[in-house]
Amino acid sequence: MSLRPTRLSLLSCALALGFTAPFAMAWGPEGHAIVADIAQARLDPVAAAQVTALLELEGYDRLDQVASWADQHRKEMPGTAGWHYVDIPLAAPAYQAARDCPRDNCIVARLEHFTRTLADRSASPQARLEALKWVVHLAGDIHQPMHAVDNDDKGGNTVQVQFFGVGTNLHSVWDGRVIEHQLDLKLGPNYSIDRTAVASRAMQLDARITPAERAQWAPAGTLATLDARVVDWANESHHLARTVAYTDLVKPSGAAWSERYQAKAWPVIRQRLQQGGVRLAELLDEALGSASAPR
Ligand code: ADE
Ligand code: ZN
Ligand code: ZN
Repeated sequence: MSLRPTRLSLLSCALALGFTAPFAMAWGPEGHAIVADIAQARLDPVAAAQVTALLELEGYDRLDQVASWADQHRKEMPGTAGWHYVDIPLAAPAYQAARDCPRDNCIVARLEHFTRTLADRSASPQARLEALKWVVHLAGDIHQPMHAVDNDDKGGNTVQVQFFGVGTNLHSVWDGRVIEHQLDLKLGPNYSIDRTAVASRAMQLDARITPAERAQWAPAGTLATLDARVVDWANESHHLARTVAYTDLVKPSGAAWSERYQAKAWPVIRQRLQQGGVRLAELLDEALGSASAPR
């Protein structure tokens, strides 16, 4: 037997050590922080004070600091992988709970569940902080079109593409690649973000949200209608995946394709980040704000 490491043994070493990129689980850290920053800027003062009090339990002061917690700790939380998405078949017209969310193992059920825990004054502060972390994260993910679709490809994770000369996959293009290109952002070591740079991009996106858009995307309501709204958001994402993300994929490589694909994906991604932000603020207002149940 040769002592030289074979390709196969190098690969299994890399796998064992966790060197390979895992399947993308979420908007990238930048997308999640952008959604959190937009929401933070729009909270009503009562909700903002409640959010601050919960975050302080673990020494945080802003929502962007916990926005990717659910991804960063997923190894310690086995069984939560399915909470980040809902696999609505690409060919299906819309979400169907019995088919797409068995045993509540999908983002629709988990976002509803954690929003209710956050609003529950009888739950422990620790449980409510954990619920807050999940709500901030999942309100982002549910707006990522690839998190509400499946074409026997793990939400595009197994669809290889060459995006601006870099080999990646369709899911990652939507999670982070387009955002990084368009907003000139780069990840640091261990998926870290430049919070100041991300917050400034988030405030530019926030400034472009018109009052009419805000009113249309997140009309003031109560948690009584939570479930229907969460389903609507998943269906919107699924529709965008069908009509935008999964089109023009015959030969997904080359500069012309990258430019063309990015030009159609970016307006969608920009709006989904904006919608995620205003809707997260509304959820937190409903769960914790001046119109929520008395403490
Ligand atoms: N794994 C399986 N389906 C997925 C999806 N839609 N998004 C992210 N990860 C997935
Ligand atoms: Zn996620
Ligand atoms: Zn993802």
